[in-house]
Amino acid sequence: MKNLSSLFSNNKKWAADILAREPQYFSKLANQQRPEYLWIGCSDSRVPANEIVDLAPGELFVHRNIANVVVYSDLNCLSVIEFAVRVLKVRHIIVCGHYGCSGVKNALFPHDGSYGLADNWLRHVREIAARHRHELDGLDVESARLDRLAELNVLTQVHHVCSSAIVDHAWRQGSELSVHGWIYGIADGLLKDLGACVSGQQEYQDFLRDFGVSHPPSPFSLDPL
Ligand code: CO
Repeated sequence: MKNLSSLFSNNKKWAADILAREPQYFSKLANQQRPEYLWIGCSDSRVPANEIVDLAPGELFVHRNIANVVVYSDLNCLSVIEFAVRVLKVRHIIVCGHYGCSGVKNALFPHDGSYGLADNWLRHVREIAARHRHELDGLDVESARLDRLAELNVLTQVHHVCSSAIVDHAWRQGSELSVHGWIYGIADGLLKDLGACVSGQQEYQDFLRDFGVSHPPSPFSLDPL
């Protein structure tokens, strides 16, 4: 039987190294988590959330899926957002895409090959490509179109997070909560802020205007508890 013993030995060494530096590390973490940030990112193995922003366990609440999509009907993602906002009381929701995303590439060139079930998931990104076809067609290099679609995808997901009843409710309650749109470069290890920092309804309306969305949808989740 292959029991992945190398991963267990990695784990033993990792835990021992941490304890050598800070003996109370795990006992403190076991009591509670108090992350300030929710990270919504791509499942891509090259985009490890904690490492990129150099945060330790306990500091970042994480949700990842293929192409970092926030979908109206995804109860998994909506539950994570609601838990992060209502229970953990995070102050920031970061939607982070990345350049070189296979999901974005598949969305732009669906005929290059099937990813199976993920093709259906990526239809959400394909719709973004269709909505911004004019801008994307104006870019003459394929890599530039892919990069821009990755950015447009992040901005769209920021819009989806902001339009959720969860975030809307938090803002109406006067909670300090900001939604950010970032993108990560696998080739250089650097994050780029896409300039979408939304901290309330007025900023959300400004963001929608700048992003060219004239009719924001109504909140997409069930009413908050
Ligand atoms: Co990706």
